Amino acid sequence: MVALLQVDRSRYHPSDFSVCRDAGAGVGGVQFDAKSLIIIGDMHGSWNQLDVDYFSQFPESLLLFVGDLGHGTKRSDLELVASLAQLRGPALIMPGNNDALHLGALSAELTYQMGRRRILETFKTVEIDFCGYSLHRLRLAGRDYSLISARPCPMGGSDFSFPGLLKERHLVDSLERSAEALRALVDRSEDERLIFLAHNGPRGLGGNSNDIWGRDFSLPGHADSDWGDSDLSDAIAYAKRQGKQVDAVIAGHMHRGRRQNGRPLEVKVDGTLYVNGAVVPRIRGSDQGELHHYSEMNLVDNQLEVSEYWVTLD
Ligand SMILES: [Fe+2]
Repeated sequence: MVALLQVDRSRYHPSDFSVCRDAGAGVGGVQFDAKSLIIIGDMHGSWNQLDVDYFSQFPESLLLFVGDLGHGTKRSDLELVASLAQLRGPALIMPGNNDALHLGALSAELTYQMGRRRILETFKTVEIDFCGYSLHRLRLAGRDYSLISARPCPMGGSDFSFPGLLKERHLVDSLERSAEALRALVDRSEDERLIFLAHNGPRGLGGNSNDIWGRDFSLPGHADSDWGDSDLSDAIAYAKRQGKQVDAVIAGHMHRGRRQNGRPLEVKVDGTLYVNGAVVPRIRGSDQGELHHYSEMNLVDNQLEVSEYWVTLD
C-alpha cells in the first residue's frame, strides 16, 4: 500500500514537501523485491489483453510505465487503466502529459479497480499505483535502491506543465518548487543508490535533435534543442553532490519512432544509465504478426544494463 502523508492544507507552507509520498514498506523496509525492471514506454493506446497476459507471467519483475497511456479520450484512458489493474505483478505508473486531462478520473478508476481486487481475491493482491513526487524502496536482484518518481505530466523543455493540476495534487506550483520537492526526496532516501523514474528525461542530454531527449520538431524562436527538464537534472546533480550513486534514470516522452531519428535507447554519462523507453507505436504489424515492444533493466556483473525486445504475443 502507498500511504499518502496527511497534509493540513490550511497550514501549508511552500517549503513543506510532506505532500511528497513515502511508499509503504514491506518486509525489511523494502516495498518491491524484484528480479528486474520491465519498462513500458509511451503507449498512446498501444496495449491490449495480450500484454496483460504476457507481463503477468513475470510477477517477480517490477513494471514501470513511463506515461502517456491511452489515446487521450477519457473513455480510452479509463479502459487502459482498468486493463493495467488486471496485471498479476507490481507496477508503478508515471503520468505523462497526455494523461493530465483526466488524471483525477484515472486515479479514481485505479483505486476502484484495486479495491475491487482486494475484495474479490483471497490471496494477497499486488501493488499497482500511480506515482509522482514519491519515494519507493526497491531491492533489485538483491541490491537495495531508493526509487524516486519525478514530476508528473511534463511536456518537456523545462516548462512547468499543468500548474493547476500539480498544485492541486502535489502542492507544487513552479519549476523551482518542483526541484525543491525532488531534492527533499533525495534527502529522505535511505539508500546509497538511486533510480529516478520520470515521464520526460533530464536537461543536459539533448544538445542535438537526435539525442536521447533532443527536440526534433520545429519551435520558432527556440534555438536550444535540449527538451529535457531542469528540475530533474537539478535533482540528479544534487543527489550526486550528496554522495548518492544515481545508477539509472528511466523516462520516455521523446518518441523513438518510425522516422528513424536515431534517438537511442540508452546513454551512460558520469556513471548513470539514462533510458528512453518510448518507442511509438509500441505495437506494430510484421510478417510474424503483431510485435509488442518493451525494455528490461537487469543487474549484470554489478552494473545495470538495459535491453529492448519486440515480441509476438498471439
Ligand atoms: Fe508525453
